[in-house]
Amino acid sequence: MLSYYLDSKKKLEFKNGSFRVLIFTDMHAKRRIDPRTLAFLEATVKREQPDLVLWDGDNVVDGPDEESFKSIVSALAEPMERRGIPWAQVFGNHDEECCFDRKIQQKIYESFDCNISKSAPGIHGVGNHMLPVWKDEQIALAFWGIDSNDYLSTDNDFYPGDLEKAVLLPKVMFRDCGYAFIRFDQIRWYWDLSVELERLAGGKVPGIMYFHTCLNEFAMVPYNPKETGMTGKQNEPLCPSTLNSGLFTALLERGDVKGVYCGHDHTNTYEGAYCGVRLGFCGSAGFGTYGLSSHYDSGPHQDADKHALRCARLLTFREENVSEYESEIILARDLIDMTPVEYIDLV
Ligand SMILES: [Fe+2]
Repeated sequence: MLSYYLDSKKKLEFKNGSFRVLIFTDMHAKRRIDPRTLAFLEATVKREQPDLVLWDGDNVVDGPDEESFKSIVSALAEPMERRGIPWAQVFGNHDEECCFDRKIQQKIYESFDCNISKSAPGIHGVGNHMLPVWKDEQIALAFWGIDSNDYLSTDNDFYPGDLEKAVLLPKVMFRDCGYAFIRFDQIRWYWDLSVELERLAGGKVPGIMYFHTCLNEFAMVPYNPKETGMTGKQNEPLCPSTLNSGLFTALLERGDVKGVYCGHDHTNTYEGAYCGVRLGFCGSAGFGTYGLSSHYDSGPHQDADKHALRCARLLTFREENVSEYESEIILARDLIDMTPVEYIDLV
């Protein structure tokens, strides 16, 4: 199983002792797009010159045909494709709003020269992958992309009845959280591959996991900001799945994943460590979706407030101690002209 993931279009390697990763999430790109989304992607990639770019779901939510979809992806991926920077993506709960399923989308993503995502066969979700990072012909770091799936109402292939209704009792721990959960076969896939990786490397390989919808355990950070060393802010209630399928405890028992990064909650930018695993949000990079104020209101007077937290997350790893990496939020307002402009047509 491991060899499938070791064979990549582009080899990821530490350069000059470091490896840098940019995570963009929730671009919610459509055929008509706020050009500031594209300007932010370009400015961030240009300044940071990352070794890898990851998209954390809710990437493209419009199509409606494959050609249009590819044109939108092409516009978003241009900063990486032009520079030859490898990139990969996972899916969010809104990606299928482009009108065709994620398997077709995955094929289109993989058709880009610099896209190195893959899709683990035979398990739930599309685009589950592991990306190895090499140092002196040894794997020193691994990125785990997981599909956090869509909704309890659409992903039920096992419960005899209305799963959402059964799960969402009148009182629940999180608001409005009928989101799907990461399935057992996905967790087992991670576990088995992680064991193989350990055997090959002769020791546990530090890893970072990225997927769209956060885990229940993310709530522990703002509940305990001092103990978890919380940075950043919680600006909206968490929206994980109400069902906790146990991925976090699997990570703890394997002991290799050092950080988990999610999107979905567009205005949450916090990060903190729980049981030694860093849990972080990446905000949102797309100007065409809800932001910090007035969720879906796009009135010009509220524009600056709404987009004040458009951002990306940058992770910097150093080869002498890969597990102790740096993590920071990069704000669009520090990089681009935030003056509202007319939307443009990509297709
Ligand atoms: Fe989103």
